[in-house]
This record gives sequence, structure tokens and C-alpha cells, in this order.
Amino acid sequence: MRHIILPIVIIACVSSHTSAQNRIGTGEVDKLYKSTCASCHGEDLKGGLGGSLLTIDTWKQVGKTTSFLDYVKEGNLEMGMPAFGGALSDPQIRSLEIYIDEMRQSAARDGATLVEAHDGVYSAGGYQFTVETIVAETNKPWSIAFLLDGNALVADRDGDLQVLKDGQLSKPIANTPEVWARGQGGLLEVALHPEYAKNGWVYLSFSESGGKVAGKVAGMTKVVRGRIVNHEWTDQEVLFETPLKFHRSSGAHFGSRFVFKDGYLFFGIGDRGAQDMAQDLNAPNGKIHRIHDDGRVPKDNPFVDVPNAYPTIWTYGNRNPQGLDLHPATGELWESEHGPRGGDEINVIERENNYGWPVITYGMNYNGKPITAITEKEGMEQPKHYWTPSIAVCGIDFYEGDVFSDWQNDLLVAGLASQELHRLEVEDGKVLSDQIILHGIGRIRDVASGPDGFIYLLLDRPGKIVRLVPVQ
Ligand code: HEC
Repeated sequence: MRHIILPIVIIACVSSHTSAQNRIGTGEVDKLYKSTCASCHGEDLKGGLGGSLLTIDTWKQVGKTTSFLDYVKEGNLEMGMPAFGGALSDPQIRSLEIYIDEMRQSAARDGATLVEAHDGVYSAGGYQFTVETIVAETNKPWSIAFLLDGNALVADRDGDLQVLKDGQLSKPIANTPEVWARGQGGLLEVALHPEYAKNGWVYLSFSESGGKVAGKVAGMTKVVRGRIVNHEWTDQEVLFETPLKFHRSSGAHFGSRFVFKDGYLFFGIGDRGAQDMAQDLNAPNGKIHRIHDDGRVPKDNPFVDVPNAYPTIWTYGNRNPQGLDLHPATGELWESEHGPRGGDEINVIERENNYGWPVITYGMNYNGKPITAITEKEGMEQPKHYWTPSIAVCGIDFYEGDVFSDWQNDLLVAGLASQELHRLEVEDGKVLSDQIILHGIGRIRDVASGPDGFIYLLLDRPGKIVRLVPVQ
């Protein structure tokens, strides 16, 4: 059964409602709605000759005896709902469904009781907490890795790797790799090897330009490791880079984020703006990759024996993986995938799986043009959770600290455009609930539980580092 009804998220702690997901209700789909549906259902979807489309509780057939697609195609002539099967394509009808869902979800939020922060104190999920500024002004912090001495490394998309110590960011570490800071690219992930105390390895991912492809400067995601000695990057080893033919001039969808498990390194690369390549096993984009932590290709990777397949591929059909973390109890690999408009996803990544992009998706193009009519297909994985409208999902982190102990093993999820921090309760590979625990303090690029148990957030434009600290 097609899952058409999204649970509306619980709003707990919201200081103000900004319609930051500013494309809601815009673009081609808006024109389509206005020219084909608005005459009866109203420009504001609140109804006219036809009923309100904002309150699906009052829909009589869609979601009960038929799907949205079939209903709109066939209509209900007795009731006065025309059949659109001849006039509109399936993907167009699907884009209208996403549009109605966007409008419905944001209307539900506008009507929700929005809790203000009182005297700077937020309350959500059973805790009262403040948002403490650690670094008031920086550039584009993308990821943070906590060191053993209580300090941290911060990777900035502009290319700087800095040490965060006593609330101050150091001058950039010298001799880090040159990055191709184009669009969404630049210096991305930083992480420590699990045995960093013994071996000192620091891992970085970034976009690098290998030169020109078809006359245009092009780039691709690259992974290296090195050591930091006397504030200098040394001993660098290249662990993953692709031949120049896979570099693309687009500044979109470099993916990234690292997870170490059992001597392997997992990381994602986005589709680099070429969506169909996500389904192509010969190409590295739109994939989750698995290599040994020293860069060797594991002999038991799922596609190593397939002629021409890219040997490091672990899974495919991944649009733009922006968050990756291991479930602390089960060891499952959870991923956030920045989707098209209305199609942000949370997935559990398992060997050899196809996550469907762009054949199936819950979203449409950002300009409101449809992508596909289908959201599921045999042989393709369903997300564990998705957001319509999009929150612009980015970093994720399973909370493991003692400070917010009720949140242990909950998945914290950062939203950029929505400026939201979500807390997802998960069990047996399922998402049980989705709660907004913070809203409106800025675009959240990454979330990380610190060794002190506080929850650290990296904010983007303006760049800031803050942490959530409970009120005693
Ligand atoms: C000529 C008027 C008219 C137009 C144009 C029209 N509708 Fe309807 N629609 C109706 C009427 C009448 C109903 C049935 C009464 C009701 O329950 O609201 C209905 C019902 C619906 C329902 C609710 C079905 C249910 O289960 O109760 C949906 C969803 C819907 N329309 C979607 C659309 C979409 C999408 C478009 C544009 C492609 C559209 N309609 C265009 C008149 C119209």
C-alpha cells in the first residue's frame, strides 16, 4: 500500500515559524494547480465547489479505497470531480500530490501551538535547555571531530581545518589539501580513526578539481588521511579519488561524511547533479562506498566481480548523502539523504541495496516540475522516514551522552533550510517519532554529541558553533 499520509511532526519548541523552506507552493506545480484544480478547490486549497484539500481527514476515498493518482486520473463524476487521466501525466499528478502535502504540512504547523523560548530557555523532549554560543562568528563550518584532550577539529567548507580550543578557533592548520570550493563543494568531513590515540590518523574528505572535462573545470569528492604534527598536516595518504572522466563541472552533491566500522571506512558521494548516474554501477556518483581504512578495495565488496562496476560501491541510488552514523546498539548504518523538493530521506544502508534515486522518490524538482509518479518499486528500498516539505536534511548523530540521557540512541537530525533540529526515536530499524527540538536559530549544517554530553551544532551562514546545555 502506498504511503500517502505523512505523520505530522510534533512541534515542541519553536520560537517562530519562518517559512524557510521557501519553495513551498511555488514553481511549475503551482501553475499546474492554479490552472487545473484551483477553480474548484480554491487558490488557497481551502475549497470551493470541491472540498478543502488541506484537511485530508475529510477526504472520502483517497487514502482509503484508492490512491491519489488513480482518483485524480479517474475522477468522481457523480460528485463533480473531473477525470484528469487524459489531460495530465502520472508524474504531473504526483507533483500535485506533493504540492498538496507541502501546503497541508505547513498549514498544520502554522496552526500548531508554537512555544517560545522563555528567557532563553527552550523546552522539548522532557528537557529544558539553553543554546550556548561557543564560536560567535566563523565561515562555513561543515564538520567537527572531538580530540582526546577536550579540543576539537573543525572543517570549514572554505578549506580551513582549525582547532577549537577554549571557544577559540586556531589559525588554519598548515598544508592541508587544496580544495575546490565550488557550490556545495570544499573541505567537507573531518574524522579521527577509531584508534587515533595509537596511530594519529585524521581523515578528510573534500572536493578536488582534477582539471578540465569537456572544456570546463571539473571536480569530484576525494578522501585522504594524514597526521597533524606541530599544527601542520603531514604524512598524507590518498585513500579514494576517481579518474578525471568522473569529475563534473557541477558544484552540486558531493555527499560525504565518514563512518568507521570493523576496519572499513564508509562514505557517500552525491549524484553530482547527474541524477541518472546514481543507478549506473560503472560510475562512483550517487553511491555509498566502502573501503578499508587504509584505502584498499575490499575483496568482498558487492560489485567487485561485476565487469566495469566501480569496485568501492556498497549501495547505489543515493541522491546526496549528507549524514551517516552507526546506531550505537545495533551497529546499523543510518544515512540522511538530501532529496529533491519534498523528498528528504532517512535510510538504513545495507550491502548491495538500491535506494531508488531517481527512479523512485517522494519529491519533485525544486522548480516544481515532476520527476516521477512512483514512490516505490520492487528491488528498491523505501526510506525509513521522509520529509514533505523538505527540511534540507544534513548531518545526523545518534545521541550517546549522559546529559540528555532520555535521548540516548535517538537520532538527531540537522535541517538547513528549515533551521530545525529533529529528534527521531528509532527502534528495530523503524522511526517511531519525529520531534522538532529546536527551531529558528539558523541553518544547521551538522550535529554532534560532544564528549561532555552536550549537543554541538554547526550553523551555516552566518557561521557559528553552539551547544545545547540543560538547565539544572
Ligand atoms: C470542476 C471542479 C473540480 C476540479 C477542476 C477539480 N476538482 Fe477535485 N473535487 C471536486 C469535487 C466536486 C470533489 C468531490 C467533493 C469533495 O469531496 O470535495 C473533489 C474531490 C477531490 C479530492 C478528494 C477526494 C476524496 O477522497 O474525497 C481530491 C484529492 C481532489 N479533488 C483533487 C483534485 C486535483 C488534484 C485537481 C486538479 C488536478 C482537482 N481535484 C480538480 C471538484 C473538482
